[in-house]
Amino acid sequence: MIENLREQLVNVENIPSLPTIVQDILQVTEDPKSGVKDVQEVVERDQSCAVKLLKLSNSAYYGFSRQITTVKQAIVIIGLEGVKSAAMSLSMAGCFKEGARDQQQVLSDLWAHSMATATAAQMLAKKSKATSEAVAYCAGLTHDFGKVILAGHFGVRYLEMFRQAREEKVPITLLEQSEFGVDHETVANWIAEAWDLPDEIREIAKSHHSGFRVDQTNKGILLVGIADALAYAAKVGHGGNGRPPVLDGQFLKLIGLDSTVGNEVVVEIKKQADRFSALLQLAD
Ligand SMILES: [Fe+2]
Ligand SMILES: [Fe+2]
Repeated sequence: MIENLREQLVNVENIPSLPTIVQDILQVTEDPKSGVKDVQEVVERDQSCAVKLLKLSNSAYYGFSRQITTVKQAIVIIGLEGVKSAAMSLSMAGCFKEGARDQQQVLSDLWAHSMATATAAQMLAKKSKATSEAVAYCAGLTHDFGKVILAGHFGVRYLEMFRQAREEKVPITLLEQSEFGVDHETVANWIAEAWDLPDEIREIAKSHHSGFRVDQTNKGILLVGIADALAYAAKVGHGGNGRPPVLDGQFLKLIGLDSTVGNEVVVEIKKQADRFSALLQLAD
């Protein structure tokens, strides 16, 4: 039955294709010989993404007095990692915009939650060096993508589960397992495989709840688990989990960070909440 569901869900016609730019950015990041020029080239190759990136850079959120007209300028002003993460978000945002009207609130909550988790993960990666910033960002952005797929496939049935989890304060994974036999971690793993995402990101998607334990040795899983908990703590968007992960300081210690970092990240996510919605507006 589970294999059946897998076939239904991970059918090329049912899942959005992974934007090439995400794959390219991850590849450029992995290559120690690549630099600013390579990232610039990757972004410029995707004209629609480049145009949106310039629009975003010139939006009120950044408040630059000078008009940004080229990707090169955007890299100078927003920074290399900033451009990489904005390009990945802009190219993924469309996936959170599809669906019927009654799905839109859930999807936009999920979008803000995914952006908050990605932003937190990037900040943690920058400080801890547990993984690269781009990988952390992409893993944060995609960690709950299984929910997007489940919402798209089961429609109202899944939306109802979202409501129930929040109202009854139960982990959404439990409801998913009892209703579908699988949870969004498993679905995210299927999608990550279908998309051929790097193993590091697939492992995180697969275990961001079940593997968020103090005996976890995979720092990427810990890092995104922490980022997920901080996104809930900041109350930016909602991932639909009725019993969100709670962060205690020992998790931060495990990735080599001080417990005060958590507050810092929460403040930053809150500050960026408007930018997350602005980004969604820019999506096709
Ligand atoms: Fe999750
Ligand atoms: Fe989440």
